[in-house]
Amino acid sequence: MGLLHALRWYPSLVTDIIIKPHYRPAEFWEKRHARDHTFWTVGRRVYDTEGNERWYGRLAADLRAALTAEKLDLKTLGVYEIGAGTGYWTRLMRDLGCVKYEGTDIAESAVAWLRPQFPDYTFAARDAAVDPIPGFWDVIVMMHVDEHVHAERFFAMLRHIKAAMRPTSRLFTTYVPVAKPSGVTYVEYHTGDDYARVFPAAWIRPLPQPNGGDPMLVISPAYA
Ligand SMILES: C[S@@+](CC[C@H](N)C(=O)[O-])C[C@H]1O[C@@H](n2cnc3c(N)ncnc32)[C@H](O)[C@@H]1O
Repeated sequence: MGLLHALRWYPSLVTDIIIKPHYRPAEFWEKRHARDHTFWTVGRRVYDTEGNERWYGRLAADLRAALTAEKLDLKTLGVYEIGAGTGYWTRLMRDLGCVKYEGTDIAESAVAWLRPQFPDYTFAARDAAVDPIPGFWDVIVMMHVDEHVHAERFFAMLRHIKAAMRPTSRLFTTYVPVAKPSGVTYVEYHTGDDYARVFPAAWIRPLPQPNGGDPMLVISPAYA
C-alpha cells in the first residue's frame, strides 16, 4: 500500500472499527456519493485504485463467463441493476451490447451522476428494501449490495426482486458461502441460506469462479 493511500485508509478504518458509527443507509451512501464517484466510494477501501481494478476485473470476468454459460445475450434482454453506484457494472452491460438497462441506487447523487454518463439508459433513485421494482426483468444484477441491506430490510429487498422475475429471469448477486461476522456497522454478510428464506432452494446456484472473483449466486425459477 502506498503512503498516500495508507494516510487515507487507516483513519477510515479506525473510524469504522472503533467509533462504529450507526448505519443509516440513505444518509451513509448519500454522503459517500456526494463526495466523489471512485473506488473510494464503492470499492474495497483497503485497496488502492489499481487493487480495486484488479479485484473488480476478476468479478467482471466471472460474471461474463456466467452470462455466456447461461446463454444470456444482453443485446436482446432487459437488465435491472440494484446499487449501480459509480457505474462499473453499467459499463460492462453497455460493453456487452445491452440496450434496455435501468440502474437504481439509494443515493440521489449516484443517480444524478450516472444519468449523463449513460444517456441511453434509465436511472432512478430507489431504496431496494422499500421500493418495488417496476415491471419484469430478464436479468437483475446486484453486486456487493446485499451486505449493505440489513436484517428484515434484506428479506424485503429479496421479495421485491422475486416479484420482478419471469420464469426465465436470472438474478446475479454476490453473497458469502459461510456465515461470518463483520467488524463494521455498514456490513452484514448474507449466505445462501438467507437467500433461501425467500427463493426456493431449487432456484439457487453458486456460480463457478474461474477468474477468482468473489462468490456469486445465480437465482432463477428456470432451474426448478
Ligand atoms: C459497495 S457499493 C457497490 C456499488 C456497485 N454495485 C459496484 O459494485 O461498484 C453498494 C452500492 O449500493 C447502494 N445501496 C446501498 N443500499 C441500497 C439500497 N437499499 N437500495 C439501493 N441501493 C443501495 C449504495 O449507494 C452503493 O452505490
